[in-house]
Parts: sequence; structure tokens; C-alpha cells
Amino acid sequence: MHEYQIVEGNETVYRDGTIKLHGPEGFAGMRKAGRLAAEILDACAELVKPGVTTGAIDAAIRSMILDAGAVPATMGYRGYAHSSCISINHVICHGIPGDKVLKDGDILNIDVTPLVDGWHGDSSRMFYAGEPPLKARRLVEVTYECLMLGIAAARPGARLGDIGAAIEAHAAKHRYSVVHEFCGHGLGRLFHDAPEVIHAAKAGTGPELKPGMFFTIEPMINLGKPWAKVLSDGWTAVTRDKSLSAQFEHSIGITEDGCEIFTKSPMGRDCPPYL
Ligand code: MF3
Ligand code: CO
Ligand code: CO
Repeated sequence: MHEYQIVEGNETVYRDGTIKLHGPEGFAGMRKAGRLAAEILDACAELVKPGVTTGAIDAAIRSMILDAGAVPATMGYRGYAHSSCISINHVICHGIPGDKVLKDGDILNIDVTPLVDGWHGDSSRMFYAGEPPLKARRLVEVTYECLMLGIAAARPGARLGDIGAAIEAHAAKHRYSVVHEFCGHGLGRLFHDAPEVIHAAKAGTGPELKPGMFFTIEPMINLGKPWAKVLSDGWTAVTRDKSLSAQFEHSIGITEDGCEIFTKSPMGRDCPPYL
């Protein structure tokens, strides 16, 4: 039912619906790309504060990626013209950086995807501008827990649906909702590949996880209803009820006995507050 394809090294692969299974060369490539994504997000902790524009943060991210000899995979992707997505408060994902000024109490997601030697490191974290209210910080913490519980379910022999089931159960426990319109995805040489990683799924369903699979887990959790809509700019996804939304994203690889997180923060800045 689900087709797998063995990828030896850095050969060209296609979006043909197959789930790629990588070897040591792939793991080495993803480790490098994931580490750069994590270092950039670490540096963002210093940039995020009230009064700063999202465009200024994006410009700093672009410089960091280019200085590292990498390329922002989002630039030119389906017409997108920026080096990051920055999604504030009720923006679920794909917020476009620009003139918008951060204000005290905002929560925001910064999502980066450096392309390093042909491998994609895709990761996002939440940040606080000043001091957000307790209910916003609580949403952010639980969303991070959702991501990590999803990752804990990712091991060989498990099914892809086990990940979404773990995420959904934790969100429901806190009376939050999981966004259905956007998913995690296979990645590697390709930015968005099979499989689609659904964040609210049924345990025991979906393809079997096998060593060498690379994919993201990137749950978007809303304080209110799950419904999303995309604004007329064609990118910005917001909650229909204007409730706050949070998201974290890691890129992972399935190993023989569990999984490896390629995008973990070297500074321990995986979840705010970043002190
Ligand atoms: N990084 C996003 C993801 O997690 C994709 C952004 S595509 C863009 O898949 F074009 F909006 F930047
Ligand atoms: Co992603
Ligand atoms: Co991303």
C-alpha cells in the first residue's frame, strides 16, 4: 500500500509518492542542515523583542543562512520571496515577514529551512516578545509538549498515525484543538515529500515507520476552534475565530531503535522562555 524507496546517498530523488529510506550519508547531511536551522533559531532569541519588525528578523535570518554557505529553501518556493515564515498570535503558519512591528505580549513562531549541501533542515519554534499573558504561555508550553510526545511515538514498527494520536490526545486534554489543514512532511533532498504527517490521527493507521525515514513533525495547536483560513495574500493562515495559535517543528530521522532529532537546540533553547 505504501511504497518505499531506498536512497543510497545524494542522488536525485523525485516527488513520486514513495517514502524514501536513507542511509548514513543522508543522516550526515540532515545532521548538518538541522544543526544550522537550530543555530539560526537560537540566535533569533536575541532578536525578538517589542519594537522590532518581522522584516528585520527575516533579513537577519537570510544573512545567517547565506553566511553559512547555505540557501533559504523558502526563497522562490512556489513564489514565496522570504527566508523565513513569522507567524504572530492568531496566525497559524506561513506569516509573511514585513513591516509588522512586534509588541509586548506577542507570541510568534519563526520557521526556517536552510538548504545545506542539498539537504533541508526544517524547524520552527515559538518566541515571546516581552511578557505574554499566562494563557498564551500555557498554549506555547503545551504545544511544545505535543511535539515532543509525537516524537516519542516515532520509532521503527510504529505507524505514522501513532504520532498524530499522541499529539491530539495531549491537546484535547488541555481543551485545545489541532489544525487539520497543514501537515508535517517527508523531507531530505526534497523540501516537501511523502509521507504527509497528520497531527490529529488514529493510532495504528498509516504507513509503518522504518529506519531511514526522514520527516517533520510540526503541530499547530489553537486555543479555540481548529478552523483555519488563508488570507488574500495567498500565504498567511489564520484561525477563523481569531484565537491564539502555536507551533513547533523538528526534522527527525527514524533510527534502528527510535529516532534522531536533527534540529535540537545546541543551547537548550527548544522552548521559551529563552533565558
Ligand atoms: N517551513 C514550512 C514548513 O514547515 C514551509 C514554508 S513554505 C513557505 O513546511 F513558502 F511558506 F515558506
Ligand atoms: Co515543515
Ligand atoms: Co518549517
